[in-house]
Amino acid sequence: MEQYGVTVWFTGLSGAGKTTISSEVAKILRSQGYKVEILDGDTIRKSLTKDLGFSRADRDENIRRIGFIANLLTRNGIIVLVAAISPYRQVREEVRQTIGNFVEVYVNASIETCEKRDVKGLYKKFRAGEIKGFTGIDDPYEFPLNPEIECQTERENLEQSVEKIINKIKELQVSNSLSLGCQP
Ligand code: ADX
Repeated sequence: MEQYGVTVWFTGLSGAGKTTISSEVAKILRSQGYKVEILDGDTIRKSLTKDLGFSRADRDENIRRIGFIANLLTRNGIIVLVAAISPYRQVREEVRQTIGNFVEVYVNASIETCEKRDVKGLYKKFRAGEIKGFTGIDDPYEFPLNPEIECQTERENLEQSVEKIINKIKELQVSNSLSLGCQP
């Protein structure tokens, strides 16, 4: 099966659901024979970007490095799922332009909901004064203005969010194989 490489970029607050949704999408696509890679901020920050912190410059550098890898994989036909807060519009646009085959997914949940979920206990740490510059509280989050997909994780369940993304990826697979088929 000829596969169309694409980067699906999940952006949103910590705890909005980026990792959960992207893992489920990967699981389903892999079970159907697709080649998928996940680049998750939490994992990447332990290796490729472990020298970086959470200043704007460091977050932008984190996104650029992730974008660099995503681009290499995408042009080799891999479906790349990036899950990173990626709080700044400008660098998200930059990686979109570089990669080209790019789908932005806004994983949208309010800061209140994310704090209630507090999957990693980081909001609690912030309230205890152990962390500063936490995205969405005392550090900026610039939500996407024109994302291809929005998952409102307070209103829709995991299956609904996952379905939207899988449908989009499959649509791109079909339209790309049609356009390739039309070439002389
Ligand atoms: S990004 O801003 O550079 O895109 P990334 O997604 O890689 O962030 O990493 C965010 C993760 O780092 C969060 O999910 C959380 O586990 C952890 N983290 C630690 N400190 C912070 C902070 N100040 N703001 C946001 N996330 C933080």
